Amino acid sequence: MVCLGNICRSPLAEGILKSKVDSNTIIVDSAGTGAYHVGNLPDLRSIQVAEKHGLDITDQRARKIQTSDLDTFDYIYAMDASNYRNILSLAKIEAQKAKVFMIMNELQPGEDISVPDPYYGGGDGFENVYQMLDKACDVVVKKISE
Ligand code: 4NP
Repeated sequence: MVCLGNICRSPLAEGILKSKVDSNTIIVDSAGTGAYHVGNLPDLRSIQVAEKHGLDITDQRARKIQTSDLDTFDYIYAMDASNYRNILSLAKIEAQKAKVFMIMNELQPGEDISVPDPYYGGGDGFENVYQMLDKACDVVVKKISE
């Protein structure tokens, strides 16, 4: 799960997907395309919205995505179109590029809808992000379990 800072959207995506899969068989992680917040806890507003929905994401620390992630993981989900382009620019071979998707395309294929960056907005932006990711992750779970 990849966004820009790895403090708002992708930590929520990581927490939501982790809550829906068996951690013995599926490894879920998140990262940012930027390094501004490396080592930081998720944004307090993400922690709070996760908590409201029964998820604890306070074990997460921000990290920057690296090319090796495109080998380690089978599916790389970008939160928005900018993240998507930046992840693709790290890919060196077609097999790496083929793993990169925009997460909302799982729910609405081909529409290239972005999960809006809630960083500069109000608290309801985080709830909106949660709801979008919760629905998209249900489809991801179905896909990876098939
Ligand atoms: P995220 O949100 O990409 O969902 O983690 C952001 C967090 C920080 C910044 C931008 C977006 N920033 O510019 O610091």
